[in-house]
Amino acid sequence: MTAPIVPILPETIALAAEILSEGGLVAIPTETVYGLAADAANPEAVARLYEAKGRPRFNPLIAHVSSWEMAEREAEFSPLARACAEAFWPGPLTLVLPARAEGRVSDLARAGLETLALRWPKHRAAAALIEAFGRPLVAPSANRSGHVSPTRAEHVAEDLGERISLILDGGPCDVGMESTILGFHDGEPVLLRPGGLATETISARLGRSVQPYSGQAGINAPGQMKSHYAPRARLRLNATAPEAGEGFLAFGPFVPGDLSLSTSGDLVEAAANLFEMLRSLDTQFERIAVSPIPGTGLGEAINDRLERAAYREAG
Ligand code: TXA
Ligand code: MG
Repeated sequence: MTAPIVPILPETIALAAEILSEGGLVAIPTETVYGLAADAANPEAVARLYEAKGRPRFNPLIAHVSSWEMAEREAEFSPLARACAEAFWPGPLTLVLPARAEGRVSDLARAGLETLALRWPKHRAAAALIEAFGRPLVAPSANRSGHVSPTRAEHVAEDLGERISLILDGGPCDVGMESTILGFHDGEPVLLRPGGLATETISARLGRSVQPYSGQAGINAPGQMKSHYAPRARLRLNATAPEAGEGFLAFGPFVPGDLSLSTSGDLVEAAANLFEMLRSLDTQFERIAVSPIPGTGLGEAINDRLERAAYREAG
């Protein structure tokens, strides 16, 4: 049986909380992408979640919270981390912080690390569900491991419908790109994953530059597998025009039959469209050519996802 797709209502939030408290899996909308939620404190539920996604066990999960109280029970905030959270939470930012002994997130969800990735999502349904549930929910993107992240309830149903209990439908995701992940090293913010909050925006707000991740001691970026957001089709990046047989993903003006991430060249709009358009071209073509995308603002995260989607293991 495939999971029902239900609208966001007080009754469906209550039903979702009940399923989660019994160790079940529920897909939820967030402002970034749809997440597959489980009780972070229940190792059996977390194991079921890894199994449903087909995710390698060593890849740790983000714990989602809905209040400062909940966040501070799980992790230690340095003054800089606190300033960062106050500037951008709730929102598309995940912070990797030292986990606290009193925290409830299971070791399995953290994949045994001493640190915990924490996020306070802005989406009203996600926040309402965490609030109703009363403790953190782990929620990786609601796709099978290696597939393109879902930005609509229907995408979740296609990928995971047979393996989960319920899909809460919040419509298309506003940001359309996973959260930006920051760690801290020697008092400096370090970018572990570019995402839906532009690195420049963080630097400007904190008044200090965000360092690139370069294997700093004590920080793991286990999610940095090269092939990750893989469509079935082969991707050719920085293409000025499609070749015969290729689907074309443009940035800027486009011709009928192609798709454009943003006809006006707006990177925020492009981020919101990226996964959905990749999915759509993937169903129609064996090969997809993609226009060059500027590397500024959300273009950093868009290019990161495109490079991963284009990567193929040698042989
Ligand atoms: O926008 C998002 O972040 C979405 C929505 C649903 O909230 N979630 C998401 O989760 O993208 P996921 O599991 O697909 O990606 C989580 C990333 C992984 O790359 C993982 O390796 C990294 O976070 N991560 C988790 N815990 C970590 C830790 N302690 N240290 C370093 N990286 C960590
Ligand atoms: Mg993912």
